[in-house]
Amino acid sequence: MELWDRAPSPVTRRYAQDLRQWAQIIAVLFLVALVVFDSFAPNRPVERASELDNFFYGSIGADIGRGLPVKVLQVLPATFPEHLPAGAPRDLTAFGFIHEPGERLPIGFSIRRQLIDLAALNCGTCHTGTVRAEPGGEPMHVAGMPANTLDLQAYFRFLFDVAADEDFTPAVVLGAMAERDLLSPLDRLIYPAVIRRMKEGLLAQERRVARFFHPDYPRFGPGRVNTFDTFKTDQFRYYYERHDIAREPPEMYGIVDMPSVWNQAPRDGLWLHWDGNQASVRERNFSAAIGAGARPQDMDVDNMLRIEAWLNELPPPSYPFAIDRAQARRGEQIFRDYCYDCHAFKGERIAQVQSLAVIGTDPHRAWSYTEAMLEAQQDYTAGYFWQFERFRVTDGYSSHPLDGVWARAPYLHNGSVPTMWALLTPADRPVAFETGVTVYDQEDMGFRTEHLRPAGDTYTREDGTVYDGRHFVFDTRRIANGNDGHAGPAYGTELSGADKRALIEYLKTK
Ligand code: HEC
Ligand code: HEC
Repeated sequence: MELWDRAPSPVTRRYAQDLRQWAQIIAVLFLVALVVFDSFAPNRPVERASELDNFFYGSIGADIGRGLPVKVLQVLPATFPEHLPAGAPRDLTAFGFIHEPGERLPIGFSIRRQLIDLAALNCGTCHTGTVRAEPGGEPMHVAGMPANTLDLQAYFRFLFDVAADEDFTPAVVLGAMAERDLLSPLDRLIYPAVIRRMKEGLLAQERRVARFFHPDYPRFGPGRVNTFDTFKTDQFRYYYERHDIAREPPEMYGIVDMPSVWNQAPRDGLWLHWDGNQASVRERNFSAAIGAGARPQDMDVDNMLRIEAWLNELPPPSYPFAIDRAQARRGEQIFRDYCYDCHAFKGERIAQVQSLAVIGTDPHRAWSYTEAMLEAQQDYTAGYFWQFERFRVTDGYSSHPLDGVWARAPYLHNGSVPTMWALLTPADRPVAFETGVTVYDQEDMGFRTEHLRPAGDTYTREDGTVYDGRHFVFDTRRIANGNDGHAGPAYGTELSGADKRALIEYLKTK
């Protein structure tokens, strides 16, 4: 008893104080360890709460195998402006990416925390578009719409050119990062190796896809990519080499316009993709993720299913401008008579493939999906619960549902016809026109492009004045860019001008 009643001796007091200090130190160390572990826990995607932000910025798993360092991406355009398209802004919007205020990277990049932050493409990259009422007007960003401004090929051209540049060194890039206050002491240790690996990786990728960058190969331009041929030379290369399968023209020109991806639920079971080679929404989604760079073993299945559920219900965007309702009512009957059968969800021939001989549009995309491609896909995905079983080879193009068709210009699988009016009026389909434009043409339904005529090395406008714009010029005379087909009495191209106008008013309501 006595012992406890006595005041603590100075020695016991010091001992207790030491103990408290040690406890505090250990607690602080523990917290630091937690924070460090939390920041550097391997393979953790930056998650987004809202479904829209998840579509714009969420990870599908491509950032594991194909991730590029975020901080390097942030400084690259301003550090190597000589490799940007002429006159372009010195950031990633140079390639038509959409950069929202407050975000580190544009829409279409997911970020994954590893030892450093890595970024890669996701579904929002190719399926988010922009519309404006007039030049300089407020941009409307529409989720699920084809990425009408995005020139993905120009982005990769830039990355490859930078990788090949002798100034792409740790010293230069770290300097640029320091200037933007992005460089931590830890970064100084890690980034030199990261940059060297990035250089090697990009140069190896460039060698695999070189043929698509050859001057004789038509450039994709904004809003377009090559769906399947890049798989043949990149992800599925092993299969083509193992079986010694040729990858030669004409099957190597499957360049397509990006489609819309809203309202997927009623599309399940329909034969879609441009050539109607796939009837399962899920397989189309996972196929897209592989295209975006996700390897089967890296696939973020939970998030893929989350995006799938959201796209199933995402409504097509309403037409944001005025509609002449009386005309639209008249146009509805014309639609029923001419288009409903092939293009309405309840039409008898919805999502049926019209053979090349019948539809008459450019054949290259149909030719690019082959039996060998189908087998390579099956081999590549074998053993996963989502493995591909519902692909097939077709000999033409599918008639898609036309919901939100106003936002899907330019039209046809290769984006070779700028407006609905031109689709309905083959004589008015331009030989060449601008793409990457966001200003909407409310009369003809499409983007307000300059219709151009080739004249020697340059282009003139249809009124004969010289074209001096800086948008991409889509030239329908180049291989895979043909704008024929979908023409004749059955396709409404012989309707009167007034009837076509009424039909266009009706299509605005879809
Ligand atoms: C690199 C650009 C790109 C990315 C990234 C991308 N897609 Fe696509 N997507 C396309 C293209 C191009 C097509 C048209 C393919 C074809 O038929 O040739 C397409 C087609 C589709 C289709 C079928 C549309 C139809 O009606 O035929 C769906 C659904 C789809 N994508 C969903 C997704 C999802 C989900 C993701 C993310 C996992 C994604 N896409 C990522 C470019 C992309
Ligand atoms: C016999 C079936 C058939 C009829 C009838 C038909 N189409 Fe099509 N349509 C197709 C096919 C097949 C395609 C795909 C062609 C391609 O992309 O090469 C297509 C493509 C389209 C596209 C391009 C879609 C996109 O996203 O780029 C539009 C727009 C279109 N049709 C509108 C119409 C309209 C309007 C009518 C009625 C005046 C009509 N079609 C009548 C079969 C048909």
